[in-house]
Amino acid sequence: MYNFTMQIPTKVHFGKGTISHLSELAEYGKKVLLVYGGGSIKKNGIYDVAQELLKAAGLKVYELSGVEPNPRIQTVRQGVEICKKESIDMILAIGGGSTIDCSKVVAAGAKYDGDAWDLVLDGSKIKAALPIFDVLTLSATGTEMDAFAVISDLTKNEKWGTGAQCLIPTMSILDPEYTFSVSKKQTAAGTADMMSHTMENYFSMENADCQKFMAEGLLRTMIKNGPIALREPDNYDARANLMWAGTHAINGIVGDGCSPAWCVHPMEHELSAFYDITHGEGLAILTPAWMEHVLSEKTLPHFVDFAKNVWGLDDDDEWALAHAGIDALKKFFFETMGIPANLRAVGIEDEKNFDIMAEKASKPCANAYVPLTKEDIIEIFKAAF
Ligand code: NZQ
Ligand code: ZN
Repeated sequence: MYNFTMQIPTKVHFGKGTISHLSELAEYGKKVLLVYGGGSIKKNGIYDVAQELLKAAGLKVYELSGVEPNPRIQTVRQGVEICKKESIDMILAIGGGSTIDCSKVVAAGAKYDGDAWDLVLDGSKIKAALPIFDVLTLSATGTEMDAFAVISDLTKNEKWGTGAQCLIPTMSILDPEYTFSVSKKQTAAGTADMMSHTMENYFSMENADCQKFMAEGLLRTMIKNGPIALREPDNYDARANLMWAGTHAINGIVGDGCSPAWCVHPMEHELSAFYDITHGEGLAILTPAWMEHVLSEKTLPHFVDFAKNVWGLDDDDEWALAHAGIDALKKFFFETMGIPANLRAVGIEDEKNFDIMAEKASKPCANAYVPLTKEDIIEIFKAAF
């Protein structure tokens, strides 16, 4: 197990009705920037409840709306401008990962004397941020309890993750009922995303039994509850288990002590940067192709454990068992969860950008569990096509 330092300062209020804790924001100042996406929070009523609570707490509310899935730097810049002009004290994000990530970089941009894109390209430039609060409405990214934010500039086909300790939310409200209205597509994509976070950690662990067994438990939780949430969108316990498992997949509890370099995520971020696809769908498509590419004599024991402990499979032939584990994952993503099974099915019509995307992803992937070259990545894209 590698050395690590862990500090997660987020206060989590989990469960039905916990939105009432928005009153605590009054301890942090008077002016709040409420950030949200394309309107789902108005349709399901969370917007009205939040406005009432904020007003009752004596807060003055400013708004940044229309945050896009795969949030754009242009929207971040609008938020920073409001914060600077109005001397905003804190940010409240209500939505999924895109809204919360946008809010994080707005919070840092408000304290930065320069263009917010600098902070996306280089997290070490983030020295301070306004306090960030959120009401999570989609279980997927884990941004509600992590230090990261992912922002795109699609005019340049760029999508990059950044991070800093001060981007970890001060308080997150996790009410599973607020995810009842999430569509089947986003429920499936969110489940794939949290599984990918867990698997990126799982396959980069060495001698970290504690993290490994927790990761297996998280994966089993997701595999059990994802399909229930698809069938019964308002099943509270399924939504609650998905929500809490998704939070733990990336808050450090299973990732700290492991090799930090992920590789399926950098490959997917290129797909989103060039084709604006849904993050979780891209991950689901790439992960089995990546697994088949890296399965070797050396990695075989990891895949045997994955098949046995995550999928409950067994076979005397270890290679057959490893392949069966990967096949089980494919079946889960593409049949049980109904996720599109290849890149063509998400609208990527040809291979013309594979070279440039692989070139860009090859830098972070060079330090992965199994280091990947540009050529490896092109092969994985082709296998997923
Ligand atoms: O915009 P609205 O109208 O709110 O609709 C959203 C959006 O269309 C909708 N939605 C959210 N909650 C809903 C709902 N619809 C009905 N009912 C609700 N309760 O779902 C759509 C997708 O939302 P989005 O926020 O984009 O999804 P997600 O949470 O999956 O976030 C994806 C983004 O997070 C990044 C991804 O790359 C992508 O940009 N990630 C962030 C990470 C992090 N900060 O740690 C790590 C991840 O690996 C990931 O890269
Ligand atoms: Zn992800």
